[in-house]
Amino acid sequence: MSSVEFQSSPNPPEPTEPSKPFGVNLASRVSRLPPYLFGRINNLLHQKRRAGSDVIDLGMGNPSDPPQELVIEQLAKAARDPNNHGYSKSNGILNLRREVAAKYARKYGVRLDPEAEIIACLGSKEGFSHMCLALIGPGDNVISPAPFFPVHMHAVHLAAGNVITLEVADSDKLLSNIAYTCEHLYPKPKVLIVNYPHNPSCVTIEPDFYVEIVKLARKYSFMVISDFAYADVAYDGYLPPSFLAAPGARDVGVEFTTMSKGYNMAGWRVGFCAGNAEMIRALSVIKGYYDYGMFQAIQIAAIMALRHTDAAVEEQSSIYQGRRDVLFDGLKRLGFSLEKPRAGMFVWAKYPEPWQSKMNSIDFAMLLLEKGDVAVSPGTGFGPAGEGYLRMSLVENENRLRQAVRQIARCLQSELKVQAGDEKAAVIG
Ligand SMILES: Cc1ncc(COP(=O)(O)O)c(C=O)c1O
Repeated sequence: MSSVEFQSSPNPPEPTEPSKPFGVNLASRVSRLPPYLFGRINNLLHQKRRAGSDVIDLGMGNPSDPPQELVIEQLAKAARDPNNHGYSKSNGILNLRREVAAKYARKYGVRLDPEAEIIACLGSKEGFSHMCLALIGPGDNVISPAPFFPVHMHAVHLAAGNVITLEVADSDKLLSNIAYTCEHLYPKPKVLIVNYPHNPSCVTIEPDFYVEIVKLARKYSFMVISDFAYADVAYDGYLPPSFLAAPGARDVGVEFTTMSKGYNMAGWRVGFCAGNAEMIRALSVIKGYYDYGMFQAIQIAAIMALRHTDAAVEEQSSIYQGRRDVLFDGLKRLGFSLEKPRAGMFVWAKYPEPWQSKMNSIDFAMLLLEKGDVAVSPGTGFGPAGEGYLRMSLVENENRLRQAVRQIARCLQSELKVQAGDEKAAVIG
């Protein structure tokens, strides 16, 4: 680290007229980021909406239901208190962190010290990205899931690390692939990113999986970041396990949770990181340089949500479960191949033949949007392992989802007719 002071010249040169346009010279960390793969879809979506089309948007996992009324009321009340408008604590106020500790204790039997083992973040994505800056440097290797939630790849790249992706579909195979990678890669992986319930593939795991992860982390000395964004959205009685409930987990890693999904507070930007005190402290140092913490009124309302709305969070899951059933059944009828997800806000579906052979997932998603007025996320937006798949989110209501299935069916039938007509014309021609 170095800093140099320059003396200003006593006679600065006269400014001259610029002869050519000024060239903005971005840092390579920005120019190296890949083009945004959802860009084409989003542009067309906005274009269609501007033109008046009622597009059914299953693209993003952006909850459309409101937070609980008492949480909104608490926010309004806290916003009227003049004491809440200054900078807040960068780590989050202690009562909020205590509430997170209480939730971990009642839901997972995990006892955390709210002072040292929990920090509040401006949404879990912010915390995750800054944790990457805290742990990863040039040349460090990081294992990430494949397919991947984009941040699990790009936050590592922004920290100048390298990503090795390993398929998540089969958890036993993943465990042995992690061990194999640690045995053979130089330098050995420094960090493992896990994300269950997994976005986008909806893969879930049982608590034993994390017991094995902790053993591997100890054996090969890597740190673990668990992205537990979908902790609160689960179906059919399944309780997604917390990484921190595995024995020794907090010796080797941390876990991110969020109020975006189960509490319908995505725009509020409330997330948490919990676990290893040293890693939490490092994140707090980085965050101390970058931000001044969350608006205190939001923190106070978040306390209310964590303390009083468990039942509403469960109710929200059962709403998603109903939507999941509608979309799952509808897509099955259309010949898509997919597993019924046990958690998360998405279905992850392999689209059927003849489309598999004809189109990649971006073109297929464009077709559904262009001709079917249904927006979905193409699998390759989550890396090459997502090719052949679509991710559809459960943020529209059941009627809209039924309508989406009908529109997809109609779009594909008419497209087949058009293509058959083209082929016939070509043969005749
Ligand atoms: C796997 C995963 N992690 C993190 C996030 C971001 O959550 P937050 O709103 O807390 O930043 C999302 C949001 O879509 C997600 O899918």
